[in-house]
Amino acid sequence: MKILDSIHCCDNLPWLAQLDSGSVHLAYIDPPFNTGKTQTLRRLKTTADDQGDRIGFGGRKYRTDLVGSSSYEDHFDDFLGFLMPRIDEIWRVLRADGSLFVHLDAREVHYVKVALDQRFGRSRFINEIIWSYDFGGRPKDRWPNKHDTILWYAKDPAHYTFNYDEIDRIPYMAPGLVGAEKAERGKTPTDVWWNTIVPTNGAERTGYPTQKPLSILNRIVRVHSMPGDTVLDCFAGSGTTGEAAACNGRRFLLCDISAEACQVAAARLADVRPALVGFEAVQGAVAAGVPLPLPF
Ligand SMILES: C[S@@+](CC[C@H](N)C(=O)[O-])C[C@H]1O[C@@H](n2cnc3c(N)ncnc32)[C@H](O)[C@@H]1O
Repeated sequence: MKILDSIHCCDNLPWLAQLDSGSVHLAYIDPPFNTGKTQTLRRLKTTADDQGDRIGFGGRKYRTDLVGSSSYEDHFDDFLGFLMPRIDEIWRVLRADGSLFVHLDAREVHYVKVALDQRFGRSRFINEIIWSYDFGGRPKDRWPNKHDTILWYAKDPAHYTFNYDEIDRIPYMAPGLVGAEKAERGKTPTDVWWNTIVPTNGAERTGYPTQKPLSILNRIVRVHSMPGDTVLDCFAGSGTTGEAAACNGRRFLLCDISAEACQVAAARLADVRPALVGFEAVQGAVAAGVPLPLPF
């Protein structure tokens, strides 16, 4: 079974088992990080109000109202026991020249790296990408944790997609040292990607917790797949991978167990692929017995 440009609202393990072997070119997953918490994002609206309890610029008073919140559980006693069967299925559905990207943070990445090396062989590990950001609090008793890790494994380390010319250019740190032409063109990034988090007030923000920046997914999709290829994300959350795939002329195959996530992703992707996504998202939800109020 392969339904393209679709969002499926169900547990990804039985869902993956239905997909055809060798049918996906690129898989990116951003599973829960096992933080031991419920991941929640509260959406607040600030309104000028003389009776408000917050004082802003110029002494003006504001009121903050809670307009909604999203959450998902992120607590696992046996994280590898949860993740590895799903990764085995993803590996099966990947094409012979396909790539797998696994996005984690310092809590679990080392355990998962060892498990992946044991499962697929160290030769299939190509890169450890560090996504470095700089936002939020700074504890005073340790170095602030301000990076995630994305592990890249290729099914065949001798044949995989790497579109070097599609890599976006970034500014040189010392442009004065490289000459005007090079400085103008910029340089390609290394395996350390400096990229801000999703801006708190930007249009990109969906309100879904732990939403990843579109720029990170755009880079992965453009460099590691070709137009028309199928991109899979079975921990899809707000649908960032789907948007990157659709906007770059790839097909997307998304799954998330949370009805809320699927709803956010469907609303987000409705602008890009109105007819297909609405239909398949509803179908997936119905098949999984999940009530999914969709804006269609
Ligand atoms: C870190 S979030 C993904 C965020 C996403 N990359 C984005 O940019 O919005 C992890 C997601 O995995 C989903 N999830 C957890 N267990 C799952 C399962 N067994 N099957 C499908 N989705 C699952 C959660 O509902 C959550 O939306």
